[in-house]
Amino acid sequence: MLTGKAMLAGVAGWPVAHSRSPLLHGSWIARHGLDAAYVPLAIRPEHFANALRGLRDTGFRGCNVTIPHKEAAFALCDEVMPRAHRAGAVNTLIFREGRIIGDCTDGFGFLASLPGFDATSGPAVLLGAGGAARAIAAALLDAGCPKLTLVNRTPERAEALARALGGNIAVSATPPLEEATLLVNTTSLGMSGQPPLEINLSPLPAHALVADIVYVPLETSLLAAARARGLVGVDGLGMLLHQARPGFEAWFGIAPVVDEELRRIVAADIPPR
Ligand code: ATR
Repeated sequence: MLTGKAMLAGVAGWPVAHSRSPLLHGSWIARHGLDAAYVPLAIRPEHFANALRGLRDTGFRGCNVTIPHKEAAFALCDEVMPRAHRAGAVNTLIFREGRIIGDCTDGFGFLASLPGFDATSGPAVLLGAGGAARAIAAALLDAGCPKLTLVNRTPERAEALARALGGNIAVSATPPLEEATLLVNTTSLGMSGQPPLEINLSPLPAHALVADIVYVPLETSLLAAARARGLVGVDGLGMLLHQARPGFEAWFGIAPVVDEELRRIVAADIPPR
């Protein structure tokens, strides 16, 4: 039930029908009994700037932005938060006093999804060099990761990412697994419809954590291999759930929690293969 005072937010994408964000935010809205709605916003790229200003001017609290609007959204922000500058992207917009403020919560969501992980505890190895890799690499370095190694099919892209971020970051053709406390896959390999990620995990130390940001399917071949080796494997659903927290809190004024019930609700919407 909505009143005339209902708080509004949504997710802007094209297409947007695949987005799980309305289900996720809607679950929190229902749980807290809020006078609020979070809706899918299907916006053609050529209409994005007008539509975004329209949302701001019709009283929306803000929105998430997904493919293909992330770059356009960054350019339309009146203010971009430091972690979004580091990530080179925005995924969460907050409208405040007529201004559009851009945040990137992907790196936060990734770190929050790792159980008991301390970024300062040792070197990390990151596969990939795209947009997701940048947000996660920035978050790891900013959380005190002592050494981060990027491994990517196109090495030039990894070199460019390392230069853009600076700090204790290296590029390698082979993943230095012997010393890694964290291995994370940010490539699309292992995603349903894509080839599997082929990697021999045997050199990883026994305490290493293996994370995959892919969540369709939830159990990728990488995670299956990690578990077969007795390592803790973390799927990409946690990152999806946790990256939504800062936006929800900014728009609706309540800090939501990610728990097993929420995980079950969103996981039920993910095809097994
Ligand atoms: P996102 O913004 O979601 O991170 P992206 O920018 O398209 O997506 O990046 C996808 C990542 O998956 C890249 O690191 C890409 O490697 P390249 O930089 O060499 O393109 C990686 N990737 C995609 N398909 C791959 C494949 N078949 N083999 C190896 N890496 C692949």
